Amino acid sequence: MDKLDIIKAKCENCTKCPLYKTRTNIVFSYGNPQSKIMLIGEAPGEQEDLQGKPFVGRSGQLLDKILECVGFSRNENIYICNTIKCRPPNNHNPLPEEKEACREYLDEQIEIIKPKIILLCGAVAVSSMIPNNKLGITKIHGKWFDGPYNSKMMPIYHPAYLLRNPSNEKDKPKWQMWQDIKEVKRVYDEI
Ligand code: URA
Repeated sequence: MDKLDIIKAKCENCTKCPLYKTRTNIVFSYGNPQSKIMLIGEAPGEQEDLQGKPFVGRSGQLLDKILECVGFSRNENIYICNTIKCRPPNNHNPLPEEKEACREYLDEQIEIIKPKIILLCGAVAVSSMIPNNKLGITKIHGKWFDGPYNSKMMPIYHPAYLLRNPSNEKDKPKWQMWQDIKEVKRVYDEI
């Protein structure tokens, strides 16, 4: 068993917060642990809970398209996980105590993978990784922040937000996402 399998097994047996009672599967990660990029989402939804994989519902399909725009594939170039590993009933926003209980697993994933780039996908991931930030994601998406183990972190819009804001017009969220992912690719190619 490698180190990530050991943490995954810990999550499978975890009862540290009440979410274990309602989960079908834990959702630990997907993708390549050797990748330079880690993406941290929010929490598993219904499809993720059923399949045990992150970002496999509508948001996930859009995320895949965004990644593919710059030639990233979820099997090769990225390691995807979430701030919490179990689905909150009715998809409630992860509670502080749920995030706190799950935090050690996320920290261990980051420590083992030591990604060069961490994409903070949506406000929940931003609040976990940049706790002192007071600005909304519309202000800080696309900007680089210093992350753990000398990584660079960038907040990006959550695809669920883009599904609610589908316009492709210049300066709208989808257009901004396109600029942000191109900047990620530029830095990825340099490191
Ligand atoms: N949204 C997330 O933030 N994570 C998932 O795994 C799926 C949807």
